[in-house]
Amino acid sequence: MCPPTHFDVTYAINPWMEPDKPTDAPLAVVQWERLRSQLIALGHRVDLVLPVPGLPDMVFAANAATVVGGRVLAARYRYPQRSGEEPVYRNWFAEHGYPVRAARFVNEGEGDFLVTGERILAGTGFRTERRAHDEAQEHLGLPVVGLTLVDPYFYHLDTALAVLDHETIMYYPGAFSKRSQAILRELYPSAIRAGRADAEVFGLNAVSDGRNVLLPTQATRLVEALRRAGFNPIGVDLTELLKAGGGAKCCTLELRERK
Ligand code: ARG
Repeated sequence: MCPPTHFDVTYAINPWMEPDKPTDAPLAVVQWERLRSQLIALGHRVDLVLPVPGLPDMVFAANAATVVGGRVLAARYRYPQRSGEEPVYRNWFAEHGYPVRAARFVNEGEGDFLVTGERILAGTGFRTERRAHDEAQEHLGLPVVGLTLVDPYFYHLDTALAVLDHETIMYYPGAFSKRSQAILRELYPSAIRAGRADAEVFGLNAVSDGRNVLLPTQATRLVEALRRAGFNPIGVDLTELLKAGGGAKCCTLELRERK
């Protein structure tokens, strides 16, 4: 995770971002600190990346890379406003002993690559390129299933779909092309389907450890559905970061270590 010390909305690269609207970086830090404490209270280790002034989206660590079995495929951002983040995160991985591959094609890390037990679900349409899906499959060694996003409000896969455990996902069908909806129905017949209202409060931008699921309190229907499915939903409030189009999942990058 990376604290939102320098958080701001100074450019618009997704429809949530309105640079004219005021932001409150200290409030963003308070909300983010709460998320971090909740993860630690659940028994997870949280490593920190030092924030860099002038990189206001750096708090969205999920975008920086995808890590499977200790192998790292680093991100390559679509927009130049974020490309300054690439070397900072790559260096963090290198300094912490992870072999890093610098990407050839545009991929925005776990924003578009979601790792399940047996495959990687990979988004495309707004940010990550199709060619990057092949690159991820080759480098990370898991089969990749490509999914096309069609609604600009859900520009990253992790704004429209969350992996809950090795077999279970939840998603908002309206964010996907008809063909991708069919693929999701086929692969995950018992998935939790979210409505637009829960998706719009970033209810699908959730962090799950297989039992505990951190998601916005405002996603009331999803909270109920998760409870019914046997998960333990835990409410988080990251409304300040939503002004940049981000939520809980965007703030965390999972370090899947070597087995
Ligand atoms: N402002 C950032 C962007 O548009 C938000 C990134 C959110 N991260 C995520 N994993 N969905 O790139």
